[in-house]
Amino acid sequence: EKGGFEHFMLKEIFEQPSVMQDVMRGRIHLEDNTLHLGGVKDHLEKLRKAKRIIICACGTSWHAGLIGEYLIEEFARIPVEVDYASEFRYRTPIISPDDVVMVISQSGETADTLAALRMAKEKGALVMGICNVVGSTIARETTCGMYTHAGPEIGVASTKAFTAQVIVLYMLALALSIGRTIKDEEIALYLKELSEAPQKAASIIAQHADIRAIAKVYKDARNFLYLGRGFNFPVALEGALKLKEISYIHAEGYPAAEMKHGPIALIDKDMPVIFIATRDSTYTKILSNIEEVRTRKGKIIAIATEGDQEISNLADHVIYIPYAAAPVTPLLTVIPLQLLSYYIATERGCNVDRPRNLAKSVTVE
Ligand code: M6R
Repeated sequence: EKGGFEHFMLKEIFEQPSVMQDVMRGRIHLEDNTLHLGGVKDHLEKLRKAKRIIICACGTSWHAGLIGEYLIEEFARIPVEVDYASEFRYRTPIISPDDVVMVISQSGETADTLAALRMAKEKGALVMGICNVVGSTIARETTCGMYTHAGPEIGVASTKAFTAQVIVLYMLALALSIGRTIKDEEIALYLKELSEAPQKAASIIAQHADIRAIAKVYKDARNFLYLGRGFNFPVALEGALKLKEISYIHAEGYPAAEMKHGPIALIDKDMPVIFIATRDSTYTKILSNIEEVRTRKGKIIAIATEGDQEISNLADHVIYIPYAAAPVTPLLTVIPLQLLSYYIATERGCNVDRPRNLAKSVTVE
């Protein structure tokens, strides 16, 4: 059932191009640049008029939520807050009936996320869910929602469910924007960009042997730092979580500009730093962060846009991804990070599908 792969995690990483297509199937229509989001269509007006959207989730789903915040604010101009479900439920949050509370959960059974949803519902907010498991408790208890259609995810480390969640959030953000906050030409462009993601993802996966070679160099590192900005800041967090979970190497993700406010003190020749440095509006800022790490002899692994020569002079290793519009890049930049974690963990002999101390779904708090 692992389809010839050594682990479920690797199979699930490799499945992403086809999962991406499954998530979009029937939902995006390039012939007339429309979106058909069945699970939320009866509530779309309420969602568009929301005073605020509060996203609650845990772990990787929380990272997807952060990307959702950037997407919804950028496209739909609706204020978004993202909270850990465990914090939200215990901090007497302010929720009013014109708020929307959106919960994101692969399993649909995470105890804290479910409790956050029940609390929001009780306070009269519209509750929306983004779940992978059909018929799960969260899917049943939300008023509206969308399934991610990623298929069963067996590996404890979430991979394909994450990319599917991000696509759902991207489609939702666009659906909330049409005729309101962004021009028709932009909708057309962003839909086209999204529809090209699967094929670009496949070309990144095809570089697995090069990524494995980098993993061999760093498999004994004690710490890793992951840095990204904008849409790729949450990807830095996700890359670090993936590495911690399955390889037991300490890793931290930060917004790249925060480096100066503390983490730079950690940098020396034994600290590998992974930069997500795709060509977008903050590219030159990231380059100067890379230079700062280089001056301190940190090892640099950059995820960069194909054709970027400049970065190859600064980084020790570069993993290239095809060009994509900035809001689409998280779907691509996360893939080399998943593969890097996978190969580092397997090189260290770790059980990647069943890492120690972790369960696939956390149904107790
Ligand atoms: O099923 P959920 O999406 O609610 O699970 C949330 C987290 O427990 C989950 O994402 C966890 O962090 C993963 N092991 C990450 O790979």
